[in-house]
Amino acid sequence: MPETINVLFLAAEADPFIKVGGLGDVSGALPRAIRALTPEITGETKLDLRLVLPMHSAVRADPLRPLAVFPLKRGDSEVQVEVFESVLDGMPVYFISGDPIRNSGSVYSLKAELDAEKYLFFSLAAVELPRQIGWDVDVLHANDWHTALAAYVNLTRRWEEGTRRVASMLTLHNLPFMGPDISELLKLYGIPLAQTDLPEWARVLPLPLGLWAADVITPVSPGYGEEILGEEFGCGLYDFLATRRSSLHGILNGIDMASYNPTDDAALESPFSRLTLADRAPNKSALQTRLGLPINADVPLLAMVTRMDVQKGVDIAIKALASFKKRDFQLVILGTGDPVLEESARALQASHPDHIRIETRFDAQLARQIYAGADLFLMPSRYEPCGLSQMIAMRYGCVPLVRATGGLRDTVTPDAGFLFEKATPLAFSNALRKALKRFPDREAWTNMQLAGMAKDFSWVNSAKQYFELYQSLVLENRPNPVS
Ligand code: GLC
Repeated sequence: MPETINVLFLAAEADPFIKVGGLGDVSGALPRAIRALTPEITGETKLDLRLVLPMHSAVRADPLRPLAVFPLKRGDSEVQVEVFESVLDGMPVYFISGDPIRNSGSVYSLKAELDAEKYLFFSLAAVELPRQIGWDVDVLHANDWHTALAAYVNLTRRWEEGTRRVASMLTLHNLPFMGPDISELLKLYGIPLAQTDLPEWARVLPLPLGLWAADVITPVSPGYGEEILGEEFGCGLYDFLATRRSSLHGILNGIDMASYNPTDDAALESPFSRLTLADRAPNKSALQTRLGLPINADVPLLAMVTRMDVQKGVDIAIKALASFKKRDFQLVILGTGDPVLEESARALQASHPDHIRIETRFDAQLARQIYAGADLFLMPSRYEPCGLSQMIAMRYGCVPLVRATGGLRDTVTPDAGFLFEKATPLAFSNALRKALKRFPDREAWTNMQLAGMAKDFSWVNSAKQYFELYQSLVLENRPNPVS
């Protein structure tokens, strides 16, 4: 019997409307990839997945039409929710506005407390939206702390008001970011604080409350899904998460294989493929020229394209590279973020001006030229729920050198890259030394490039797994047939 599963996908950001980081890439690509699944995969089941985003002031959407206005209770008065509708490749996209969203300028403020009401308001409004527009949603799919409260409110409202059962899924992109204490705001919006089996400190935080309530938790790689059950990566929640083990399903993110395609990328000097790998060489000399580095094919060109963040281990790389005795490499780091890290990166360039370049800005075109021209891509992350750039690097024949953690361990196999265990400058240096020794062996190096380029990181693999989980959630929801 054909049937339709209705899914509302909630996120703080989604490309192409608004993008700050990896969450925006994923929330831009995954919903469309799920909708694009063919009947060979979905069988009889139809899927109507729609996206809902906050109407941040920087959001760009065209066309945009008003769809609904409804109130939410707030203390003794009300606050209005205004909903707008757009469409992206046939997918309805809803934007939620209202004072708490309008009052906050940026997508994320540096102080999570300032984001608290904005995202609580957004989550509450998104849960209410389907009812307001007469659309029977089956699954609420939330992402990270910003929208985690949707899962929580969905559950408590069902308990309180006996509303129709709607399943919830929470995708975990970054466990350490749990959001601020929300207890006062919950009270203000008339949401009860439930008795939970969370550790006491976590009972008032959005992400843990969402994890507690969600029917399924999907970390963005199987490796990270395992790691968060242990002390090192579990952020104090590992015991609790262990009780949810059967609801945890790690699903690896994909990359946009059409956009990131070295055979057809307008940013490149010279397109290339696995079959024409020699055509990659002009990209390296063009990159060296652009960066003002000596043009030399035999010098290994190392690269990082990264948020300047301690999570990404930028400090580990800087420390290690500063003490590197061998001077026979070049390095480019492209990224912005933590001013302290930016400064120490610039200091590294100042002490090695002839072979190190630091570009502290956002530059999508240069990023692509780096993937296509550099030899070795460095990613010494302290933790990495998935990581997207190592996948792009491999697709462009840039060999990754990564810390063996989370999604990095899941995507970088030893035939295609270099892995090291400990997040220390010493472990990083040892791995780098190994890579620099391997580099002159052209055959061995080419084989690594080819192994990386042969990997399939297309979204369809992930989309299929999310779809299957939606299906199982809806089946669980169905009342037992009367015998
Ligand atoms: C977060 C994680 C990163 C992941 C991205 C998308 O930014 O830190 O590892 O790739 O989300 O899921």
